[in-house]
Amino acid sequence: MAEAPIPYPSRPAAPALIVLAGATGDLGFRIAQALLARGAQVRALVRPGNTKPEVAQLRERGVSIVEVDFKDAAALAQACAGAACVVSALSGLREVIIDAQTHLLDAAVAAGVPRFIPSDFSIDFTKLPEGSNRNLDLRREFGRHLDRMPIKATSILNGMFMDLLTGQAPLVLFKIKRILYWGSADQPLDFTTIANTAEYTAAAALDPTTPRYLRVAGEVATIRDLQAAASAATGQRFRRLRAGGLWVLKLMIRLTRRLVPARNEVFPPWQGMQYLHNMFTGLPKFGTLDNARYPDIRWTPIREVLAARP
Ligand SMILES: NC(=O)c1ccc[n+]([C@@H]2O[C@H](COP(=O)([O-])OP(=O)(O)OC[C@H]3O[C@@H](n4cnc5c(N)ncnc54)[C@H](OP(=O)(O)O)[C@@H]3O)[C@@H](O)[C@H]2O)c1
Repeated sequence: MAEAPIPYPSRPAAPALIVLAGATGDLGFRIAQALLARGAQVRALVRPGNTKPEVAQLRERGVSIVEVDFKDAAALAQACAGAACVVSALSGLREVIIDAQTHLLDAAVAAGVPRFIPSDFSIDFTKLPEGSNRNLDLRREFGRHLDRMPIKATSILNGMFMDLLTGQAPLVLFKIKRILYWGSADQPLDFTTIANTAEYTAAAALDPTTPRYLRVAGEVATIRDLQAAASAATGQRFRRLRAGGLWVLKLMIRLTRRLVPARNEVFPPWQGMQYLHNMFTGLPKFGTLDNARYPDIRWTPIREVLAARP
Protein backbone atom coordinates (compact mmCIF):
# COMPACT_ATOMS: atom_id res chain seq x y z
CA MET A 1 0.00 0.00 0.00
CA ALA A 2 1.38 3.44 -0.95
CA GLU A 3 2.27 5.63 1.97
CA ALA A 4 0.26 8.80 2.42
CA PRO A 5 2.36 11.91 1.66
CA ILE A 6 3.64 13.69 4.74
CA PRO A 7 1.75 16.99 4.97
CA TYR A 8 4.05 20.01 4.99
CA PRO A 9 2.80 23.06 6.85
CA SER A 10 1.38 25.19 4.04
CA ARG A 11 2.62 28.75 3.94
CA PRO A 12 0.10 31.33 2.65
CA ALA A 13 1.17 32.87 -0.65
CA ALA A 14 2.55 36.42 -0.32
CA PRO A 15 -0.14 39.00 -1.13
CA ALA A 16 0.05 40.28 -4.70
CA LEU A 17 1.76 43.64 -5.13
CA ILE A 18 -0.17 46.23 -7.10
CA VAL A 19 1.56 49.43 -8.18
CA LEU A 20 -0.84 52.37 -8.33
CA ALA A 21 -0.31 55.76 -9.98
CA GLY A 22 -2.74 58.55 -9.10
CA ALA A 23 -3.45 57.24 -5.58
CA THR A 24 -3.73 60.81 -4.25
CA GLY A 25 -6.68 61.45 -6.57
CA ASP A 26 -10.37 60.86 -5.97
CA LEU A 27 -10.64 57.50 -7.75
CA GLY A 28 -7.06 56.37 -7.06
CA PHE A 29 -7.39 56.88 -3.30
CA ARG A 30 -10.45 54.63 -3.28
CA ILE A 31 -8.73 52.03 -5.48
CA ALA A 32 -5.89 51.90 -2.95
CA GLN A 33 -8.37 51.25 -0.12
CA ALA A 34 -10.27 48.64 -2.12
CA LEU A 35 -6.99 46.87 -2.92
CA LEU A 36 -6.04 46.81 0.77
CA ALA A 37 -9.50 45.46 1.61
CA ARG A 38 -8.83 42.59 -0.80
CA GLY A 39 -5.54 41.81 0.91
CA ALA A 40 -3.22 43.27 -1.71
CA GLN A 41 0.07 44.94 -1.04
CA VAL A 42 -0.12 48.44 -2.52
CA ARG A 43 2.73 50.63 -3.69
CA ALA A 44 1.64 54.16 -4.62
CA LEU A 45 3.78 56.19 -6.99
CA VAL A 46 3.53 59.87 -6.13
CA ARG A 47 5.23 62.90 -7.59
CA PRO A 48 8.21 64.15 -5.57
CA GLY A 49 7.22 66.78 -3.02
CA ASN A 50 3.52 65.85 -3.01
CA THR A 51 2.22 67.29 0.29
CA LYS A 52 -1.45 66.31 -0.10
CA PRO A 53 -2.96 64.87 3.12
CA GLU A 54 -3.83 61.75 1.13
CA VAL A 55 -0.14 60.78 1.08
CA ALA A 56 -0.03 60.50 4.90
CA GLN A 57 -3.46 58.85 4.97
CA LEU A 58 -2.36 56.21 2.48
CA ARG A 59 0.80 55.56 4.46
CA GLU A 60 -1.20 55.20 7.71
CA ARG A 61 -3.42 52.61 6.03
CA GLY A 62 -0.41 50.52 5.03
CA VAL A 63 0.29 51.70 1.47
CA SER A 64 3.96 52.02 0.67
CA ILE A 65 4.67 55.42 -0.87
CA VAL A 66 7.35 55.82 -3.51
CA GLU A 67 8.16 59.35 -4.64
CA VAL A 68 9.22 59.15 -8.25
CA ASP A 69 9.74 61.46 -11.18
CA PHE A 70 7.72 59.95 -14.04
CA LYS A 71 10.36 61.22 -16.50
CA ASP A 72 13.11 59.20 -14.79
CA ALA A 73 12.77 55.90 -16.70
CA ALA A 74 15.16 53.89 -14.52
CA ALA A 75 13.62 55.05 -11.24
CA LEU A 76 10.09 54.45 -12.54
CA ALA A 77 10.98 50.92 -13.71
CA GLN A 78 12.50 50.19 -10.30
CA ALA A 79 9.32 51.47 -8.64
CA CYS A 80 7.25 49.05 -10.76
CA ALA A 81 9.44 46.02 -10.06
CA GLY A 82 7.69 42.99 -8.61
CA ALA A 83 4.15 44.17 -9.36
CA ALA A 84 1.47 41.76 -10.56
CA CYS A 85 -0.27 44.72 -12.19
CA VAL A 86 0.31 48.45 -12.66
CA VAL A 87 -2.87 50.51 -12.31
CA SER A 88 -3.13 54.08 -13.52
CA ALA A 89 -5.74 56.42 -12.04
CA LEU A 90 -4.01 59.51 -13.40
CA SER A 91 -6.11 62.38 -14.65
CA GLY A 92 -5.13 65.07 -17.08
CA LEU A 93 -4.76 65.97 -20.73
CA ARG A 94 -2.12 64.95 -23.29
CA GLU A 95 0.87 65.38 -20.98
CA VAL A 96 -0.73 62.94 -18.54
CA ILE A 97 -2.90 60.50 -20.51
CA ILE A 98 -0.35 60.14 -23.34
CA ASP A 99 3.02 61.29 -21.93
CA ALA A 100 3.01 60.27 -18.24
CA GLN A 101 1.05 57.07 -18.91
CA THR A 102 3.51 56.13 -21.68
CA HIS A 103 6.40 56.59 -19.23
CA LEU A 104 4.54 54.40 -16.73
CA LEU A 105 3.75 51.77 -19.35
CA ASP A 106 7.37 51.66 -20.55
CA ALA A 107 8.50 51.27 -16.94
CA ALA A 108 6.03 48.43 -16.35
CA VAL A 109 7.26 46.63 -19.47
CA ALA A 110 10.92 47.21 -18.54
CA ALA A 111 10.24 45.80 -15.06
CA GLY A 112 8.55 42.71 -16.52
CA VAL A 113 5.14 43.50 -15.01
CA PRO A 114 2.57 41.22 -16.70
CA ARG A 115 -0.52 43.47 -16.62
CA PHE A 116 -1.51 47.16 -16.99
CA ILE A 117 -4.80 48.97 -16.30
CA PRO A 118 -4.88 52.43 -17.93
CA SER A 119 -6.81 55.38 -16.58
CA ASP A 120 -9.83 54.98 -18.88
CA PHE A 121 -12.82 54.81 -16.47
CA SER A 122 -15.39 56.27 -18.86
CA ILE A 123 -18.17 55.60 -21.34
CA ASP A 124 -17.29 53.22 -24.18
CA PHE A 125 -14.94 55.39 -26.24
CA THR A 126 -14.14 52.45 -28.53
CA LYS A 127 -17.49 53.12 -30.21
CA LEU A 128 -17.15 56.92 -30.53
CA PRO A 129 -16.05 58.81 -33.63
CA GLU A 130 -12.76 60.72 -33.45
CA GLY A 131 -13.23 64.37 -32.48
CA SER A 132 -16.50 63.91 -30.57
CA ASN A 133 -14.86 64.05 -27.12
CA ARG A 134 -11.42 65.56 -26.55
CA ASN A 135 -10.57 63.61 -23.37
CA LEU A 136 -11.77 60.29 -24.77
CA ASP A 137 -9.83 60.79 -28.03
CA LEU A 138 -6.69 60.78 -25.84
CA ARG A 139 -7.71 57.48 -24.24
CA ARG A 140 -8.29 55.85 -27.63
CA GLU A 141 -4.88 57.12 -28.78
CA PHE A 142 -3.17 55.71 -25.68
CA GLY A 143 -5.09 52.45 -26.09
CA ARG A 144 -3.69 51.99 -29.62
CA HIS A 145 -0.17 52.39 -28.22
CA LEU A 146 -0.93 50.07 -25.30
CA ASP A 147 -2.14 47.34 -27.67
CA ARG A 148 1.24 47.32 -29.40
CA MET A 149 3.18 46.77 -26.17
CA PRO A 150 4.22 43.38 -24.75
CA ILE A 151 1.95 43.55 -21.71
CA LYS A 152 -1.61 42.40 -21.01
CA ALA A 153 -3.96 45.37 -20.80
CA THR A 154 -7.42 45.74 -19.28
CA SER A 155 -9.53 48.88 -19.49
CA ILE A 156 -12.36 49.38 -17.03
CA LEU A 157 -15.29 51.22 -18.60
CA ASN A 158 -17.89 52.38 -16.09
CA GLY A 159 -20.04 54.96 -17.89
CA MET A 160 -20.50 58.29 -16.12
CA PHE A 161 -19.60 58.57 -12.44
CA MET A 162 -23.01 58.45 -10.76
CA ASP A 163 -21.74 60.84 -8.06
CA LEU A 164 -21.73 63.61 -10.70
CA LEU A 165 -25.54 63.52 -10.74
CA THR A 166 -25.58 65.49 -7.48
CA GLY A 167 -23.10 68.08 -8.68
CA GLN A 168 -21.22 68.66 -11.88
CA ALA A 169 -23.53 66.89 -14.36
CA PRO A 170 -26.49 69.23 -14.79
CA LEU A 171 -29.12 66.54 -15.33
CA VAL A 172 -30.95 66.47 -11.99
CA LEU A 173 -31.93 70.05 -11.23
CA PHE A 174 -32.93 69.79 -7.57
CA LYS A 175 -33.94 73.44 -7.13
CA ILE A 176 -36.54 73.46 -9.90
CA LYS A 177 -37.31 69.72 -9.66
CA ARG A 178 -36.59 68.98 -13.28
CA ILE A 179 -34.53 66.41 -15.18
CA LEU A 180 -32.75 68.26 -17.97
CA TYR A 181 -32.04 66.41 -21.21
CA TRP A 182 -31.55 66.61 -24.92
CA GLY A 183 -32.82 64.11 -27.49
CA SER A 184 -34.82 61.15 -26.23
CA ALA A 185 -36.07 60.55 -22.67
CA ASP A 186 -35.90 56.82 -23.43
CA GLN A 187 -32.18 56.56 -24.25
CA PRO A 188 -30.52 54.18 -21.73
CA LEU A 189 -27.42 55.67 -20.04
CA ASP A 190 -24.69 53.91 -17.98
CA PHE A 191 -23.81 55.17 -14.47
CA THR A 192 -21.48 53.80 -11.76
CA THR A 193 -20.38 55.34 -8.46
CA ILE A 194 -16.71 56.20 -7.99
CA ALA A 195 -16.61 53.77 -5.04
CA ASN A 196 -18.00 50.87 -7.10
CA THR A 197 -15.58 51.67 -9.94
CA ALA A 198 -12.72 51.55 -7.44
CA GLU A 199 -13.88 48.25 -5.93
CA TYR A 200 -14.22 46.68 -9.36
CA THR A 201 -10.82 48.00 -10.49
CA ALA A 202 -9.18 46.52 -7.39
CA ALA A 203 -10.78 43.14 -8.08
CA ALA A 204 -9.69 43.29 -11.73
CA ALA A 205 -6.14 44.30 -10.79
CA LEU A 206 -5.87 41.14 -8.70
CA ASP A 207 -7.42 38.91 -11.36
CA PRO A 208 -4.86 37.63 -13.89
CA THR A 209 -7.58 36.42 -16.28
CA THR A 210 -9.19 39.74 -17.25
CA PRO A 211 -10.00 40.48 -20.91
CA ARG A 212 -8.97 43.67 -22.78
CA TYR A 213 -12.16 45.52 -21.78
CA LEU A 214 -14.50 45.19 -18.81
CA ARG A 215 -17.74 47.14 -18.89
CA VAL A 216 -19.78 47.84 -15.77
CA ALA A 217 -22.73 49.99 -14.75
CA GLY A 218 -24.09 50.36 -11.24
CA GLU A 219 -27.36 51.31 -12.91
CA VAL A 220 -28.55 51.73 -16.47
CA ALA A 221 -31.16 54.47 -16.52
CA THR A 222 -33.13 56.53 -19.00
CA ILE A 223 -34.18 60.12 -18.31
CA ARG A 224 -37.58 58.75 -17.25
CA ASP A 225 -35.78 56.44 -14.78
CA LEU A 226 -33.79 59.42 -13.44
CA GLN A 227 -37.08 61.26 -12.99
CA ALA A 228 -38.49 58.34 -10.97
CA ALA A 229 -35.27 58.00 -8.94
CA ALA A 230 -35.15 61.72 -8.10
CA SER A 231 -38.84 61.70 -7.10
CA ALA A 232 -38.35 58.61 -4.90
CA ALA A 233 -35.14 59.97 -3.35
CA THR A 234 -36.59 63.37 -2.44
CA GLY A 235 -40.26 62.54 -1.95
CA GLN A 236 -41.02 65.40 -4.38
CA ARG A 237 -42.36 65.14 -7.90
CA PHE A 238 -39.74 65.76 -10.59
CA ARG A 239 -40.69 66.62 -14.18
CA ARG A 240 -38.69 66.43 -17.38
CA LEU A 241 -37.20 69.44 -19.12
CA ARG A 242 -36.23 68.80 -22.75
CA ALA A 243 -33.80 71.49 -23.88
CA GLY A 244 -33.98 70.40 -27.52
CA GLY A 245 -32.64 67.85 -29.93
CA LEU A 246 -29.05 66.64 -29.91
CA TRP A 247 -28.22 69.23 -32.55
CA VAL A 248 -29.03 71.95 -29.97
CA LEU A 249 -26.53 70.45 -27.51
CA LYS A 250 -23.95 70.21 -30.28
CA LEU A 251 -24.47 73.88 -31.11
CA MET A 252 -24.15 74.78 -27.41
CA ILE A 253 -20.85 72.86 -27.24
CA ARG A 254 -19.51 74.74 -30.27
CA LEU A 255 -20.50 78.13 -28.83
CA THR A 256 -19.22 77.38 -25.31
CA ARG A 257 -15.96 76.08 -26.73
CA ARG A 258 -15.51 79.31 -28.66
CA LEU A 259 -16.34 81.48 -25.64
CA VAL A 260 -14.41 79.41 -23.04
CA PRO A 261 -11.63 77.58 -24.88
CA ALA A 262 -10.02 76.31 -21.59
CA ARG A 263 -7.31 74.39 -23.42
CA ASN A 264 -5.52 73.34 -20.25
CA GLU A 265 -8.54 72.52 -18.11
CA VAL A 266 -9.30 68.80 -17.86
CA PHE A 267 -13.05 69.28 -17.41
CA PRO A 268 -14.16 72.67 -18.83
CA PRO A 269 -17.96 73.00 -19.16
CA TRP A 270 -17.92 72.02 -22.85
CA GLN A 271 -16.09 68.78 -22.01
CA GLY A 272 -18.97 67.71 -19.74
CA MET A 273 -21.37 68.68 -22.52
CA GLN A 274 -19.43 66.50 -24.98
CA TYR A 275 -19.77 63.64 -22.53
CA LEU A 276 -23.52 64.15 -22.24
CA HIS A 277 -23.88 64.47 -26.00
CA ASN A 278 -22.01 61.20 -26.49
CA MET A 279 -24.27 59.47 -23.95
CA PHE A 280 -27.51 60.84 -25.42
CA THR A 281 -26.56 59.59 -28.90
CA GLY A 282 -26.56 56.05 -27.49
CA LEU A 283 -23.29 55.25 -29.33
CA PRO A 284 -21.18 54.52 -26.21
CA LYS A 285 -23.94 52.53 -24.47
CA PHE A 286 -22.57 49.22 -23.18
CA GLY A 287 -23.95 46.17 -24.95
CA THR A 288 -23.26 43.65 -22.22
CA LEU A 289 -22.19 44.22 -18.62
CA ASP A 290 -19.40 42.46 -16.70
CA ASN A 291 -20.79 43.40 -13.26
CA ALA A 292 -21.28 39.78 -12.20
CA ARG A 293 -17.60 38.92 -12.62
CA TYR A 294 -16.93 39.86 -8.96
CA PRO A 295 -20.16 38.89 -7.17
CA ASP A 296 -19.15 40.37 -3.80
CA ILE A 297 -19.56 43.93 -5.11
CA ARG A 298 -22.85 45.61 -4.19
CA TRP A 299 -23.82 48.09 -6.88
CA THR A 300 -25.15 51.40 -5.56
CA PRO A 301 -28.34 52.55 -7.33
CA ILE A 302 -28.99 56.12 -8.48
CA ARG A 303 -31.81 56.64 -5.98
CA GLU A 304 -29.39 56.03 -3.11
CA VAL A 305 -26.84 58.52 -4.47
CA LEU A 306 -29.50 61.18 -4.96
CA ALA A 307 -30.96 60.57 -1.48
CA ALA A 308 -27.54 60.91 0.15
CA ARG A 309 -26.65 64.19 -1.54
CA PRO A 310 -25.23 66.78 0.86
N1 LIG B 1 -16.50 58.45 -15.95
C1 LIG B 1 -16.59 59.63 -15.34
O1 LIG B 1 -17.66 60.23 -15.24
C2 LIG B 1 -15.36 60.26 -14.78
C3 LIG B 1 -15.45 61.46 -14.05
C4 LIG B 1 -14.30 61.99 -13.48
C5 LIG B 1 -13.07 61.35 -13.66
N2 LIG B 1 -13.02 60.22 -14.41
C6 LIG B 1 -11.75 59.53 -14.67
O2 LIG B 1 -11.26 58.89 -13.49
C7 LIG B 1 -9.83 58.89 -13.54
C8 LIG B 1 -9.28 59.48 -12.23
O3 LIG B 1 -9.79 60.79 -12.10
P1 LIG B 1 -9.86 61.54 -10.68
O4 LIG B 1 -11.07 62.39 -10.70
O5 LIG B 1 -9.67 60.57 -9.58
O6 LIG B 1 -8.57 62.49 -10.79
P2 LIG B 1 -7.94 63.45 -9.69
O7 LIG B 1 -8.71 63.42 -8.42
O8 LIG B 1 -7.75 64.77 -10.36
O9 LIG B 1 -6.52 62.78 -9.42
C9 LIG B 1 -5.56 62.75 -10.42
C10 LIG B 1 -4.35 61.99 -9.95
O10 LIG B 1 -3.39 61.99 -11.01
C11 LIG B 1 -2.15 62.47 -10.51
N3 LIG B 1 -1.44 63.17 -11.58
C12 LIG B 1 -1.91 64.13 -12.38
N4 LIG B 1 -0.99 64.52 -13.26
C13 LIG B 1 0.11 63.77 -13.02
C14 LIG B 1 1.40 63.68 -13.60
N5 LIG B 1 1.75 64.47 -14.63
N6 LIG B 1 2.29 62.81 -13.10
C15 LIG B 1 1.95 62.01 -12.05
N7 LIG B 1 0.74 62.04 -11.45
C16 LIG B 1 -0.17 62.92 -11.93
C17 LIG B 1 -2.51 63.38 -9.35
O11 LIG B 1 -1.38 63.49 -8.51
P3 LIG B 1 -1.06 64.80 -7.62
O12 LIG B 1 -1.58 64.46 -6.24
O13 LIG B 1 0.43 64.88 -7.67
O14 LIG B 1 -1.75 65.96 -8.25
C18 LIG B 1 -3.66 62.59 -8.74
O15 LIG B 1 -3.17 61.55 -7.94
C19 LIG B 1 -9.44 59.66 -14.79
O16 LIG B 1 -9.26 58.75 -15.86
C20 LIG B 1 -10.66 60.49 -15.05
O17 LIG B 1 -10.81 60.90 -16.39
C21 LIG B 1 -14.13 59.64 -14.94
